[in-house]
This record gives sequence, structure tokens and C-alpha cells, in this order.
Amino acid sequence: MNQDDVGRAVAALRSARRVVAFTGAGVSAESGLATFRGAGGLWEGHRVEEVATPEAFAADPLLVWRFYDQRRVHALAARPNPAHETLSAWQERFPSYMVVTQNVDGLHQGAGSRDVIELHGSLWRLRCTGCGRERDDRTAPLPALPPRCAACGAAERPGVVWFGEALPTEAVMAAKSAVERCDVLLVVGTSAVVYPAAALVELAAAAGATVIEVNPEASALAHLAGVALRGPAGRLLPQVAAGLAGG
Ligand code: OAD
Repeated sequence: MNQDDVGRAVAALRSARRVVAFTGAGVSAESGLATFRGAGGLWEGHRVEEVATPEAFAADPLLVWRFYDQRRVHALAARPNPAHETLSAWQERFPSYMVVTQNVDGLHQGAGSRDVIELHGSLWRLRCTGCGRERDDRTAPLPALPPRCAACGAAERPGVVWFGEALPTEAVMAAKSAVERCDVLLVVGTSAVVYPAAALVELAAAAGATVIEVNPEASALAHLAGVALRGPAGRLLPQVAAGLAGG
């Protein structure tokens, strides 16, 4: 990574009016939260794709509950880092600005981001498996057994999107429409291998946006990036912000 790349990112952002930041687990890595594929995709010897599914919850609800409870405990102790803070501050700079995240940890909102689309739901929401009623809940650790819905008595489940489940329609539509119209798409801390979320990068590139990737490693869609900032987002995004502020 050299300073020219930061300069090119600054130049693209300086002339941009519509900006979308598309983020993944890497944006929270410097807050101490493990990424999915960085940890080898394993949790207590289980592949994440085997724990984060409706089938796993049906077969062994307590195991899945414990997995999400641990994630809640970690996320509650985590603080937003300079990457979240920079992405939040930019909402005051661009006439149109939105954060679209695959993360469920709530750290963008913790840093003050107002317009956040959560494509994969949130650790801080519980949803009834019976009537679908949702509620916010920030206690961690949770009770060892999934709580019962106050309305219908069925078990509650984490309000996240599991593998094989559809993403929330409204969130996907809002994200697509923002990405189709943006001048710059920042792709921060995602391996860009999980669809349909990753398709947002393809959509932006096809619509003519400048894609700026911020990631120590090349993602699966790095070839679509006009600018690649290779390093940790918590260090590089503040450098870009300083360049922008420098006029
Ligand atoms: P991954 O774990 O697949 O990728 C994390 C990315 O962050 C990798 O490309 C790392 O190189 C990068 N990274 C690590 N540290 C970084 C740092 N300090 N700054 C910037 N980048 C850094 O996580 P996601 O792409 O978010 O889905 O995974 C996508 C989805 O797959 C998740 O939302 C989840 C998962 O399984 C569901 O649970 C449905």
C-alpha cells in the first residue's frame, strides 16, 4: 500500500456526492471481534456454516443459542474502532450516504451511524419462531434456554439471517437502490464470498461506481476495485479522512 492509493481514494471521494460503505466482519476486527473466515470458520470445532443454520437450531437449539450468546457477550464488550468512527463521521460530509453491513454486532450504530442497513439482521434482536414477533434485547449473557415469546409462548431465536435463509426484502431493496446510484462504493473488511450480499459490489461496478476496497487482503471481488487500500481499515480510513479534510 502506498500513499498514491490513499490519494486516489481521496480524489474519488472528493468529487463524490453519493457514497455507500459496504462492510463485513473485518471492520470490527480491530475492536477485537473475530472474523468468520479468519478464524478458519470454526467455533468449538464446528464449522460456522453448520451452526448458523435453521437446521442446526432445530436439531440442537442449545448449541446454537450458546454460539450466539458468546457472540453477544463479545460484542457487548467491544467498542467501535477508528474505522467505524470514520464511516460514521462521513454521514455529515456527503449529501447521500449510507452504511450497508453484513455485521450483526451493532458497532456502526455504536459509533453514531444513523443510516445503517443490516443485511444479516442483528445480535440485539430476538424473533419468535412461532408468530414472528421481534423485540430488542441487549442482555448478555442470555438465559441458558431460549426465552418464550410473551405473545404466543413459542421459543425465541436470534434475529439474524442464517445460511439458507432469505435476507430481509426491504433491506436488500434499499441497499440495491443506493448501490446502483452511488458514485463511490467503499468495500471494507469483507471477503465478498457470501451472496447475495456480495452481489452489491458487482451491481455498483456495473452501474459505473468507483469501488474502493479497504482490506489487508484481496477479496474475491478485488478485481472490481478501482482503488485497493491494503491494510487495516482502522488505520487506513482515518488517513483517507485526513486527506479529505486537508482540502
Ligand atoms: P469474513 O470473515 O469472510 O471476511 C473478513 C474480511 O475482513 C477478510 O477479507 C479479511 O482479510 C478482512 N480483514 C481482516 N482484518 C481487517 C481489518 N483490520 N481491516 C479491514 N479488513 C480486515 O467476513 P464477511 O465477509 O463479513 O454471514 O463474511 C460475510 C458473511 O459470511 C457474514 O455476514 C456471515 C458469514 O458467514 C452470515 O452469518 C449469514
